[in-house]
Amino acid sequence: MAPNIFDKKSKENVFRNRFTLMPEFVPDELPCREAEIEQLVENLSILLDPMSTVAVNLAITGLPGIGKTTLAKKTINDLEKAANANGINLKVFYINCHSFRTKTSILRRIAMDKFHIQGRGFSDEELIEMLAKRLEKENLRMVLALDEASMLSGKDILAFIHLNELFPVGEGRLSTIIICRRTEWTLMLSAPLSGRIQDQLNLEGYSRDQLATILEFRARLAFFADVISQEVMELIVEISAKTRNARHGIEIMLRSGMKANAQGSHIITPEFIRAAKTEVYPELRSDVFKDLQLKELLATLSIGRILSQSEVVSTTVNQSYERFRLVSEEYGQKPQSKATFRLCIETLEKLGIISHSVSSIDEGRGRRAKILLYDIPAQILIERVENVIKSKLNE
Ligand SMILES: Nc1ncnc2c1ncn2[C@@H]1O[C@H](COP(=O)(O)OP(=O)(O)OP(=O)(O)O)[C@@H](O)[C@H]1O
Ligand SMILES: [Mg+2]
Repeated sequence: MAPNIFDKKSKENVFRNRFTLMPEFVPDELPCREAEIEQLVENLSILLDPMSTVAVNLAITGLPGIGKTTLAKKTINDLEKAANANGINLKVFYINCHSFRTKTSILRRIAMDKFHIQGRGFSDEELIEMLAKRLEKENLRMVLALDEASMLSGKDILAFIHLNELFPVGEGRLSTIIICRRTEWTLMLSAPLSGRIQDQLNLEGYSRDQLATILEFRARLAFFADVISQEVMELIVEISAKTRNARHGIEIMLRSGMKANAQGSHIITPEFIRAAKTEVYPELRSDVFKDLQLKELLATLSIGRILSQSEVVSTTVNQSYERFRLVSEEYGQKPQSKATFRLCIETLEKLGIISHSVSSIDEGRGRRAKILLYDIPAQILIERVENVIKSKLNE
């Protein structure tokens, strides 16, 4: 009989617990987010008061990879535990709106998971009414965390908040925590919505020192002692500091650890880190840029430069075309026409480097086409594209 391909694979050379580096892991501690935790506790503690039933609506916004999701998950988990310990009937519900993209699917999910109600066949209004009835009947408080909330419209989010109007004046049972990137939030925000948000936490990107603290903490959970030397840790922090993004460093640790493990090494060398670095954003296959024409590379660079400014999440064709003209000049190239630039944008979209989509942002504000990067930090994109442009010009 042929040997089973997994037979050999049981030994962990470097990992104490590799799960702690996976995206779904929520650490017990969130170093460098103490102030934000305190602010959330301050806002949500009222939900633990047996004497009052009110709803709280909060927003957590900021750049990618800086702990918004983790902070929200940890907060609602602890809130639920505290409620249980104090005899308060409170349930929390975390929804990633990338998975459940409409108000209807979210309502059905809550109905099914929390109340075992089959939501099919009911209108949104009927579902909202059923949920409100159950909350009242069971004397239940619920906290709904809506992550990646920009998939919904501001109007959809308001519909959840408005559920509380079905209760007597002054009473509320459904609280919300809305989580999204900051610029998306600004686009989604309307006067009626902002009027309902009690507090908004704007999380900043991490500094180099903060990343060192966070990544050392995560390395202690994941690896045996001495697997990562001080020098290698500095290298990881260095890479991560460019994007101020903790996920960046954590993914590099996971991948470099897997490489070390596969090769039977008991330490992670700088070489494993460098190899992992090029893989952390798989959308950025290292060969994808080599096939691009110079004008397409310059278009990518223009978009990258705009999106690398802090707080800028998306751009438009007009704005990026202006930048494209400047970038072309910088490299001694005659700028192409806007029509040609549009064709470049189409190509980049097909390759999965950018997303260029018309999305309904908020009914009141009309529709607009936005150019975004697919999960690739702009800084990394710039670095790589600049290298390819240099080698093309030297050919
Ligand atoms: N202060 C921290 N301490 C420990 N780990 C952290 C901290 N902040 C972030 N992380 C880790 O970094 C990774 C990214 O965090 P998270 O997913 O919460 O980011 P995010 O802000 O929600 O990003 P996105 O906008 O892309 O959804 C996760 O693995 C998380 O556990
Ligand atoms: Mg997140």
